[in-house]
Amino acid sequence: MNEQGKLPMQRRSVLGGLAAGTVLAAAAEAMPASAAGGAGQRKRYASVGVGSRNRMYQQAIWGPHKAHAELVAVVDTNPGRLALVGRSAAEAGAAAPRSYLASEFDQMIREQKPDVIIVTTPDALHDEYLVRALEAGCDVVTEKPMTTTAAKAQRILDAVQRSGRHIRVTHNYRYAPYRSQVKELLMANEIGDVLSVDFQWLLNTTHGADYFRRWHSQKEISGGLMIHKASHHFDLVNWWLSDMPVEVQAVGKREFYTPAMARRFGLDGPHERCHTCPEKAKCTFFFDLEGDPALKAMYLDQERYDGYHRDQCVWRPTIDIEDTMHVTVRYGGGTTLNYSLNAFNAWEGYTIAFNGTKGRLEHVVIEQAGISGLNGSSMGDAIQTRIIPMRGDPRDITPAVGTGGHGGGDTLMLAEIFDPNVTADPLLRLADERAGSAAILIGVAANQCFETNRPVRIADLVTGLDAPEMPPMPTHTQDVPMPPRPRPRSA
Ligand SMILES: NC(=O)c1ccc[n+]([C@@H]2O[C@H](COP(=O)([O-])OP(=O)(O)OC[C@H]3O[C@@H](n4cnc5c(N)ncnc54)[C@H](O)[C@@H]3O)[C@@H](O)[C@H]2O)c1
Repeated sequence: MNEQGKLPMQRRSVLGGLAAGTVLAAAAEAMPASAAGGAGQRKRYASVGVGSRNRMYQQAIWGPHKAHAELVAVVDTNPGRLALVGRSAAEAGAAAPRSYLASEFDQMIREQKPDVIIVTTPDALHDEYLVRALEAGCDVVTEKPMTTTAAKAQRILDAVQRSGRHIRVTHNYRYAPYRSQVKELLMANEIGDVLSVDFQWLLNTTHGADYFRRWHSQKEISGGLMIHKASHHFDLVNWWLSDMPVEVQAVGKREFYTPAMARRFGLDGPHERCHTCPEKAKCTFFFDLEGDPALKAMYLDQERYDGYHRDQCVWRPTIDIEDTMHVTVRYGGGTTLNYSLNAFNAWEGYTIAFNGTKGRLEHVVIEQAGISGLNGSSMGDAIQTRIIPMRGDPRDITPAVGTGGHGGGDTLMLAEIFDPNVTADPLLRLADERAGSAAILIGVAANQCFETNRPVRIADLVTGLDAPEMPPMPTHTQDVPMPPRPRPRSA
């Protein structure tokens, strides 16, 4: 580990194979084996970055989608985590994928001839693998955020154009049934044209604090919460509105996860990390990496290879991401968005309201994670969707729910990724590199505003960004019937 406690980026090894000649030679040799093998052959997948998120893809390939998918290779900088994949494969009764170090990525493509590369590395490294995979003739499934800067987004957009290959950005929040239902209500013209949106996202001090312990706490790696976390939310709004962002204004600050706050809480710290913290008994933000067998195996036991600490002190001064952010976005169709993200809240979830020409759609989700009171009391899970006509009685909508990760969204999204027989999606939830760019560029612009205090136009960040295909919405030019007269107020 370096002195700031950062995850070593290993950029030299990542960049090592990037010479254009190497890449084009790899493309020529890397005709996917399944393409050569004809119908009925399973698609060949390789995963890069086999930390916690990649497990979902492993389980999907070895479980419900094994008839159509095969995990042929895994790539990581950490040999310990690579070894864990072999063990998980054995437990799942699947053949172990071949392991490669990050420096052997091009060799992996030549030898294993994957059809699709799944990228689940830390965020700022996605672009390296996306571009190399596309140029080697592979399609890509990448975790969100697609990338962390405008320059990297441009590289990816250009590589898609050059290669003719495809990127799917796994914006899984779209697939949660209750969020898809909101999209359907908007498409059904329940509230008319949406003129403005008020959206507040709250992270609590369990999940929210965790961003300040991990690589996410360094803007260079995660882009900060405006990219890492809010790209989920900006993508939702882009898709809910079927629109593209045009201009962004924002302010952001970090005022809670600071050394000063540690001292206000009566600590002597900050210290380096929880595992060795002299104040672990006193600090209620202590994170017990050793006490959780899965986390211990994934991170603590593998530190000897890369020095990465997953339990860094949330009060340390080297954190450089914000914990309080306010953003205003103007969309191409005229809608305005007022968004905030707070990372130290008493509960976790969100409230969103769409203000339309015929009424208002309110949607509130209280998530379970970490909201139980100390006495066992709990706000409980809650999903509420309500249509409030401009003049008339409000109507509660029974929320659509699913099972599995992220409100059931992950299961539906994985089926769309791996099952070739899945039915066409009328909500067009598949996000490509254009949607992936639109989602991160709002955060890129917000990060820029935090520094300059000036509005940022999305068109000034990248060139050649077209809108992706999105479901049709009521438009601002459509005639709206005048609402009925209000009822007279009772005396
Ligand atoms: N869609 C969602 O809801 C969701 C949820 C969690 C994470 N994610 C995304 O998944 C990605 C991974 O997150 P995670 O929580 O699994 O992180 P993690 O830290 O658990 O795993 C990252 C892995 O990448 C490896 N790595 C680091 N540098 C590398 C390099 N140069 N080349 C190859 N591998 C390298 C690390 O050793 C580690 O195994 C991130 O982009 C994150 O934003 C998405």
